[in-house]
Amino acid sequence: MILPGSASQSFAAALAASTGHELGRVEYERFPDGEQMARVPADVDRAVVVASTVSDAAHVELLQLQDAAREAGASEVVTVIPYMGYARQDRAFKAGQPVSSRAMARAVSTGTDRVLTVTPHEGAVCDFFDVPAEPVEAAPRLAEPLPADLDDPLFLSPDEGAVDIAESVRDAYGAGETDYFEKDRDYDTGEVSVTPSDAPVEGRDVVVADDIIATGSTMSEAVGVLNDRDAARVYVSCVHPMLAENALTKLQTAGVERVYGTDTIERAVSDVSAAPAVAELL
Ligand code: R5P
Repeated sequence: MILPGSASQSFAAALAASTGHELGRVEYERFPDGEQMARVPADVDRAVVVASTVSDAAHVELLQLQDAAREAGASEVVTVIPYMGYARQDRAFKAGQPVSSRAMARAVSTGTDRVLTVTPHEGAVCDFFDVPAEPVEAAPRLAEPLPADLDDPLFLSPDEGAVDIAESVRDAYGAGETDYFEKDRDYDTGEVSVTPSDAPVEGRDVVVADDIIATGSTMSEAVGVLNDRDAARVYVSCVHPMLAENALTKLQTAGVERVYGTDTIERAVSDVSAAPAVAELL
């Protein structure tokens, strides 16, 4: 039985449709003191907990769902984390900092037999779990909502580390070149600058693809640079459309044609589901 976290109800429904598994009707409550409660139906045999940890409350809810599933009799608990929060804090960048993703992974491991997480920032984050954990690659899904008439398309990643995502989208789209920007981020101010690749963009349709759009600083810089260089249409595409604060406005004012994302984080731009990619591994 699929047991959705409150922030992953569409993803869980899509996963139920892809797998044929029953979708459990979880109830979510919050007490007057702010504490929360997730209640699962009685009699669960094999549980698939599906919860993106988009907030600290979502982390707590995921742990409660795992525990409630065992209480309801589940002999096996598989945990699907469509978007794993804290995954980018995968090392102590300065003295005194925690490795937050490791701390989260350890907590999640206590209540499950297996973990699947979609396109983590680094696949190595799966090594932090104390149970078998696998990344699920959903980037090819991003090709599906793109216009069929892209003109001489160029698929770019905002930095070299994400070029495999641009390549996956290009391969699934079936046409076009790939390249990447050089990116610098000032960790004190949060400001991002991107240096264009040598690939010619004038008059071409460009798709910039990345694992996540968080504040939108990276993508809006890339869109601005591409428009300055007279690209035709500039699309941005990401697996995890976090779109914190004014990210969407930043992208729109930079001149983006359209923003696409998956449903690992449920937003208005979640045009395609990553659930079929997870279903293949369940
Ligand atoms: C970083 O390496 C990631 O792949 C993303 O490029 C980054 O996290 C996006 O963050 P933001 O939207 O805040 O620029």
